[in-house]
Order: sequence, then structure tokens, then C-alpha cells
Amino acid sequence: MRSYLRLSAVVSSLFITAPLLTVRASPAPQTYTWKNVKIGGGGGFVPNIVFNPTQQGLAYARTDMGGAYRLNPADDTWTPLLDWADNARWDYWGCDALATDPVSPNRLYLLAGMYTNSYDPNNATLLISTDTGSTFTTSPLPFKAGGNMPGRGMGERLAVDPNSNNILFLGARSGHGLWKSTNYGATWTQVTIPNTGTYAPDPTDTTGMNSDPIGVSFVTFDSTSGAKGAATPRIFIGVATVGSSNLFVSDDAGSTWSAIAGTNNTYMAHKGVLSPSEKVLYISTSNGAGPYDGTLGAVYKYNITSSTITDITPVTGSNLYFGFGGLAVDLQKPGTLMVATLNSWYPDGNIYRSNNSGATWSPLWDWGAYPVVNRYITYDDSLAPWLGPDYTVITDGEKQIGWMMEGLSIDPFDSNHWLYGTGATIYGGHDLTKWDTIHNVTLKSLADGVEQTAVQGLISPPTGPPLLSVVGDIEGFVHYNLSQAPAAEYANPTWATAADIDFAGNAPTNIVRIGTGDSSTGKQVALSTDSGATWAQDYGAADNVEGGKVALSANGDIVLWRTSGNGVMVSQYTNNFTAVPTLPSTAAIASDKKNDSIFYGAAGSSFYLSTNGGTTFAATAGTLGASTSPVKVVVNPNITGDVWVSTDTGLFHSTNSGATFTAIPGITEAWGIALGAPATAGGYPAVFAAANIGIVGYFRSDDGGVNWVQINDAAHGFGSAASNPLTADPRIYGRVYIGTNGRGIFYGDINGAAPPPTSTVSTSTVKSTSSTSSSSSTSKSSSTTSKSSSTVSSSSSTKSSSTTSSPSATSTAVSGAYGQCGGTNWTGPTACVSGYTCTYSNPYYSQCIPA
Ligand SMILES: *[C@@H]1O[C@H](CO)[C@@H](O)[C@H](O)[C@H]1NC(C)=O
Ligand SMILES: *[C@@H]1O[C@H](CO)[C@@H](O)[C@H](O)[C@H]1NC(C)=O
Ligand SMILES: *[C@@H]1O[C@H](CO)[C@@H](O)[C@H](O)[C@H]1NC(C)=O
Ligand SMILES: *[C@@H]1O[C@H](CO)[C@@H](O)[C@H](O)[C@H]1NC(C)=O
Ligand SMILES: *[C@@H]1O[C@H](CO)[C@@H](O)[C@H](O)[C@H]1NC(C)=O
Ligand SMILES: *[C@@H]1O[C@H](CO)[C@@H](O)[C@H](O)[C@H]1NC(C)=O
Ligand SMILES: *[C@@H]1O[C@H](CO)[C@@H](O)[C@H](O)[C@H]1NC(C)=O
Ligand SMILES: *[C@@H]1O[C@H](CO)[C@@H](O)[C@H](O)[C@H]1NC(C)=O
Ligand SMILES: *[C@@H]1O[C@H](CO)[C@@H](O)[C@H](O)[C@H]1NC(C)=O
Ligand SMILES: *[C@@H]1O[C@H](CO)[C@@H](O)[C@H](O)[C@H]1NC(C)=O
Repeated sequence: MRSYLRLSAVVSSLFITAPLLTVRASPAPQTYTWKNVKIGGGGGFVPNIVFNPTQQGLAYARTDMGGAYRLNPADDTWTPLLDWADNARWDYWGCDALATDPVSPNRLYLLAGMYTNSYDPNNATLLISTDTGSTFTTSPLPFKAGGNMPGRGMGERLAVDPNSNNILFLGARSGHGLWKSTNYGATWTQVTIPNTGTYAPDPTDTTGMNSDPIGVSFVTFDSTSGAKGAATPRIFIGVATVGSSNLFVSDDAGSTWSAIAGTNNTYMAHKGVLSPSEKVLYISTSNGAGPYDGTLGAVYKYNITSSTITDITPVTGSNLYFGFGGLAVDLQKPGTLMVATLNSWYPDGNIYRSNNSGATWSPLWDWGAYPVVNRYITYDDSLAPWLGPDYTVITDGEKQIGWMMEGLSIDPFDSNHWLYGTGATIYGGHDLTKWDTIHNVTLKSLADGVEQTAVQGLISPPTGPPLLSVVGDIEGFVHYNLSQAPAAEYANPTWATAADIDFAGNAPTNIVRIGTGDSSTGKQVALSTDSGATWAQDYGAADNVEGGKVALSANGDIVLWRTSGNGVMVSQYTNNFTAVPTLPSTAAIASDKKNDSIFYGAAGSSFYLSTNGGTTFAATAGTLGASTSPVKVVVNPNITGDVWVSTDTGLFHSTNSGATFTAIPGITEAWGIALGAPATAGGYPAVFAAANIGIVGYFRSDDGGVNWVQINDAAHGFGSAASNPLTADPRIYGRVYIGTNGRGIFYGDINGAAPPPTSTVSTSTVKSTSSTSSSSSTSKSSSTTSKSSSTVSSSSSTKSSSTTSSPSATSTAVSGAYGQCGGTNWTGPTACVSGYTCTYSNPYYSQCIPA
């Protein structure tokens, strides 16, 4: 997966609180059922897969942006372990290292932390589980981790002593060296090592992404050197350094370290894997830190008995144009090992296997008569058909075996079972020993349950397929069936990554999507008239203009495009895009869903309206309070001019195209918002918001924003709220789709009775003081994935009737905006919230309509 530069956790502004302000309860929770929209096959980089050497079938995969997973060996599926990570600790989804305890297999350790630079304010956390990842406690570390940084496929840099499992060693980044714990990871002390790993991919990178030292690359205990119950004396480490010693050994359980004599430090060690019965440490190296780079490398065998190191690189000369990453030994067959290229971009990644301790090797592919490539595989992408190309249609130059192959493992209990991670999925199979007989093994995508995409945009049009996505790195999909892996990504055109998507309100099979970062395919706007099944490039787009946000007019003929670097542009009938200087280049944009001439924009505290098809915009009279950065504009699909805007200071609603706005009381910050099917036919659309309403969460209002329920729970945090696009289903009441930055797409449905609604209406319009900063991190130390232990504080007095401006607030309850207020058998409130009048619609239904 590419390094999506996520917004850091947002710290909301503080407002002066007025004396009148009442302390508001957070909205009560309503139980939801959350499932992944199945893309299948992962979708991003899997840095490593680690089997427990003691308990058969126990294995974990770690990802760079979407947490870690545990294997279900019975059916080859994976269970996510960190879905509870919420907006405050989105950094937990960056897994920089993983260790499974060889003594007490239920113990699992994850080194969590996303970036060492300013993108991530948090120090690293060691997530500690004693129940194979079902629940965790946390141990804060005094340095940062880089789960989505260069070198994340090296390792593991975290290891449990196989003879005395209270002892752990952890190799840090950023020059912080090596650390030791003697109490199962609870506390740590620094250990002095000769070299902390000084290599950085680009020391001049001012963002800090490529200039930070990668540090210690791996820690490997020599289990054969000790005795059960005592600290293992011999430990190996590799450090990311070139040109001076970078492999070290300790023979006194980590007290002192010395360089391993005779090693060649031209390249950096990515893996150091012990073959215990051979008493050998196998080492893969590359001249890059990975996962994208590497043009040269070597494979070594260190004979511990003789203290000699041998170069066993599988290829030489002009055949060597890559480094080496993933390295696996077969514990059942001493002398059998495999190593993966990092990266052989053309024609495909390769894996080499030796059954004589590296003396000779056989490849997973080799050249036939050029350009024919003989792949010794039986390819199976049935669990994720979009991964393709299938064996029958592959053309040389397309990769099937993979790239970014840093994680390669053979099941310690089953020589036929192997798994490896690529930049896109987990491949593997159950017939590996056929390599040594017929030299043809099944290569199957085995990432079922791993949903590891960075979702850029979502739409749920009122007709056709329920959901269309645009997804980082892999274009996006028409989700005809939410529980079935799609057959294909969007094609023709494809781009390096996708940016946004929209549909036409009056003609909802008409879709526009935009892309980013691929000048080779030129124009980065595409149109579909068949709900995304087929696409045509929009030749009105200039080459090399890219990214940003897009809106399609109600009839589908006008595309408004807020590009990433070329301002706002508009085009009708695929004519050349022209600049729209009247709308700021940072604006959030939206199309009206009924009137083809109308578009909306929001920037700073201003709202903008266009009534001429996006040609010009003018600021409206209504303002967005003290907002400085609007996030999203959504429009009632049935009512022109009924718009919602989420911003850094709250959620704003206008029913008159922005002439005036109401700030929804109690909401201090909002990100993704969406309007879906109403609770009652003819009622106001259900409003969904990722917002801070006393706490940061996901909320729904059925009455136009007066009363809210919280729809996420302690087991579903969805990571960084600022990164997550939302859309709601216009056909199914209550259903919302949440796109995440690393955990794919979720959809949620109501499951259980609604709690008493909680009004956010306060006695004052002054905004409340609230913070979403990471200051709450320590309180997370006992959070679990248990569904029952909701962190939501449910309120006892939920229904607020106090609206200061309402002169007739004498009844005990009022209906909210667009809520029901009368009709046959209606027993609810018959009065409306301030600004709304109870209006007769029919004998069965009266509704609160703006006065
Ligand atoms: C991270 O750890 C360092 C070293 O202990 C400490 O100075 C710093 O305050 C910590 N930062 C955070 C955000 O906890
Ligand atoms: C070290 O490794 C490099 C790359 O494989 C090789 O060119 C060089 O000759 C080696 N040096 C020694 C002293 O073996
Ligand atoms: C390691 O070296 C010892 C001593 O030279 C030798 O007996 C043994 O066979 C070697 N092991 C391997 C796996 O090469
Ligand atoms: C491996 O087996 C598959 C399936 O039988 C076949 O399509 C493929 O050509 C074989 N590969 C080679 C190099 O023979
Ligand atoms: C070892 O590997 C070679 C090459 O793939 C193969 O021909 C041979 O049969 C294998 N030996 C065993 C014992 O599996
Ligand atoms: C959706 O896919 C699931 C899983 O493959 C299948 O069981 C179900 O029948 C499909 N639904 C429809 C409507 O095709
Ligand atoms: C549209 O833009 C292209 C360059 O992208 C230019 O060659 C062409 O002349 C323009 N067409 C019109 C009608 O301006
Ligand atoms: C659409 O909006 C424009 C601009 O406000 C207006 O002139 C036009 O009458 C509207 N069209 C319809 C069909 O309501
Ligand atoms: C829009 O109006 C249609 C027809 O009345 C209705 O079925 C639908 O639920 C409405 N959609 C929303 C999101 O309110
Ligand atoms: C109102 O309630 C009565 C009694 O329960 C029931 O018979 C009738 O169908 C209800 N009317 C409507 C419109 O729901």
C-alpha cells in the first residue's frame, strides 16, 4: 500500500464557555451490526505473517495501516484484531512489529504506531494480549514506531525469549536503539548496542518520512543456545546500516554485543531467520529499506557452530536486479528454505527454494523463449477475482506472484502450508512440497477476511448497485453484492490511485470518478452511464491535472472538479474544463441532486452557491460560524437547497441554499456526513455524522439533527475519523457505509431497539469546550474488544426540552426538524422544536416544517 498521508488526529479548538452552558450527555447508543463490505484479498501491503512455533495453526498477519489479523486455520480466513482502535488512537493500525510467544502461545505483542514524524503525534504503544489478540492491554513506549514507514517489512524487530518468555527485546527506529523488558513487555530499559541503525532512505526529505533512521531491523534469539527457564544467551540483531557492521551477536543474553565477523555490510539485513536444527541463521539483504525499493541484494548463511558466513544468493550477474526480503525455513525439513525478491518489478516477483541449505535453488518462474515466462504455479484468485490477471489471460509484464514480498512463512507444523504477503494481498497454498516433485504449486489468494484498503470515496445511488467505492491503489469497485468479492476493479481508465466519485441525482446511473498521480494515462476524470460497469475517459480534462474532489450535476452533464493543484474547474458535455476562480481552491463541493444548474461549495467560514452550472459561485449570506475548514457538503437528494456542511467547528444546516445556517447545537466538530433513507416514509432523511458530540463517534439523527443516537460501539472505532468517507443508503433506513483508512469499508445496520433519543440542544448557543486530543490515551489501557464494554456513557435524562428561544416550551417534549408531530394513533410530541411548525400532511402524518 502506498503511504497515504493521513491527517493527524484533530485537536479541536477551545471555545470560551458561557455560564449558562449545561453539561450535555453524549448521545445514547443504539446497537448496530457492523460488517465489512467484502472486497476480499486484502488490498494492501502485508509486511509480515508470523506463525507461532509451538501451537499448530496459530498465525498472525500484520498490516501497515489496518492493524493485525489472526488466522483461522480451519478455513483459511482471518479475524481482525484492532477494530476497536478509534479516532484517538488511529495510530494503533500501524503495526511495525509482531511477536507471538513460543512458550505461552496465547500471548501476543504488537508494536503499534504509524509514523515517527509529525504526521503522528503519538509515541509507540506495545499492545499486549494474553488471549491471542481478542483483548489487549497497552504499554506506552518512550519512542515512536513507524508501521507505515520505510523499512516496515524488515524484521521482526520484536522478539520473545523462547527459553524465558518474560524477556522481550525490541529494536526501535530513529536511533533509539535496542530495548529490553523482563516483565512481559510492561516496562522497558534501553540496552547499549554498537550501532543503532543509521540508514535513512533520503536524509534530505524534509517531511521526515524518508529521513528518519530505520533503526534495528530484526531481533532473533538462538533458541538452541539456552535452556528452558533461563534467559537465552545468544541473540542476533540486524541494523539498517550500510558500509559498516550491521549484524551483531550477543552471547550474554543481550548485555554486550559484537559484530559478527566476516559479514559483508554492502547491503542491509531485512530478515535473520534461525534454522534451529541446522544451527544456522539465514539472512536476506537488500540495498534499500523496502518495501518499494531494492535493486541489489544477497542471501547469506551464518553457520553458528563454525562462526562462518557463506554467500548463498540464488542468482548472480545480470540476473540480479533486486534485493531480497521474505525468508522462510521449513522447520519440518531442515535445510529447506525459501527467499523472496524485493523487488523484481519485471516481469514478476520471484521466490527461490532450496532443499540443501542454499547450495542450489529453484525459482518460482523462469524465462522461456523470450518474452515467455514460465510460472510454476497454478493460480487461484477465486476469493478475490479482481486481483487477477488469471493465469489464462496473463501477459508478461503483469505481475501475478507479486511485489513488496517481505513476509514469507512456512507453517512450522505443515510443510505444504505456506503464506506470503505482497503489496496487494496474501498468497499461499497447501501443496508447497509439489515444488520439489512436479515443480508446480498452487498460488492462491488467501486473504479472506483481510480488508486493508484506504477508502477515498463512497456513493450509494438511489437506483442500481447499492454501493460504489473509490479506493487507494486499487481504483475502486461497483459493489453489486456487499458480501461478495467484486469480479473486477474499475478499468479503462485506471490511475495510480483513485480520489473521489459522485453520481447524478436525476440520472443516478451516471457516475463520475477522478484519479491521482499517473500521467501515463493522462486525463484523470472518467464517466460512466451504466452505474460504473463501463467507463470512458473525459477528454475535456487536461493531462496531468489530478486529484481533489468531484461533483456531478443533477442531470449528469456538468462535472465540477476541485483539483488538488489546479484550482476549481468545470466542464459540460465533456468539453474542455475551464477554471472557476470564484470558488476557493480548497473548497468542499457538492452538486444539487435535483436542479442541474446548482452547485454548492464551502471554504473557510463561507458557503458558496452557483446557479449557472458551476460557471460562477458567490458567497451566500449565511456563514459557517467560526469554521476554518469545511470537510463535506451533502445535499438532501429530494430538496434543492437543503444542505449540510461539516466543519472543524461543527455541523451546519441550511434549508435555503445557504442564505442562513443553523449550527447544530452540541456538535463541536464533524467530518464525514451523509443523508439516507428516512425513518418513516416521507420523513426527513436520516442524518449520519462522524462528529464530536461530547465524544467522538458516529451518530444518526432521524429528526433533522435535533436528537442523535451513537451508532458505533467500543468494538468499532474505525480509526481516524477525519480520514473516513461516509455515505448512507437511500433505500434502507439506518444503513450507513463507512470507508476507513486501512480497514476497508464497513456497513452498519440497526440491530436492536432505539434508545430514548438524546437531544444535543443546549440552553445556550455557545459552543462547548471539548477536546479530541490524544490525552485520553492512557485511559485506553484496559480497552478490550468486548462488545459489551461500551465506552459510551448513556445518559439518564435523555430528552431535552429546553430551547431558550422557544416561547412556548411548556410541553415536556417537542419533535425535531422534519420529525413527526401528529397523525392517526401518534402518541409522540405534537409541538415542534423552535423554528419549525407542525404541518398537516395527511391523516396519518404531520411533520415539523421550517416556520
Ligand atoms: C514520547 O516519549 C518521549 C520520551 O519519553 C517524551 O519526551 C514525550 O513526551 C512522549 N510524547 C508523547 C506524545 O507522549
Ligand atoms: C560484498 O558484497 C558485495 C555484493 O554482493 C560484493 O560485490 C563484494 O565483493 C562483497 N565483498 C566481499 C569482501 O566479499
Ligand atoms: C556448520 O559448520 C560445522 C563445522 O564446520 C559443520 O559441521 C556443519 O555441517 C555446518 N552446518 C551447515 C548447515 O552447513
Ligand atoms: C503449472 O500448472 C498450471 C495448472 O496446471 C499450468 O497452467 C501451468 O502452465 C503450469 N506451469 C508451468 C510452468 O508448467
Ligand atoms: C530438492 O529440490 C530439487 C530441485 O527442486 C528437486 O529436484 C529434488 O527432488 C528435491 N529433493 C527432495 C528430497 O525433495
Ligand atoms: C451475495 O453474495 C453472497 C455470498 O456469495 C451470496 O450468498 C448471496 O446469495 C448473494 N446475494 C445476491 C442477492 O446475489
Ligand atoms: C481542449 O484542450 C486541448 C488540450 O488539452 C487542446 O488541444 C484543444 O484545442 C482544446 N479544445 C478547445 C475547443 O479549446
Ligand atoms: C434551477 O435553478 C435555477 C437557478 O436557481 C432556476 O433558475 C431554475 O428555475 C431551477 N430549475 C428548476 C427546474 O427548478
Ligand atoms: C426521496 O423521495 C422519495 C419519494 O418520496 C422517497 O422514497 C425517498 O425515501 C426520499 N429519499 C430520501 C433520502 O429522503
Ligand atoms: C390505530 O390503532 C388502532 C388500534 O390499535 C388500529 O386498529 C388502527 O389500524 C391504527 N391505525 C393506523 C392508521 O395505524
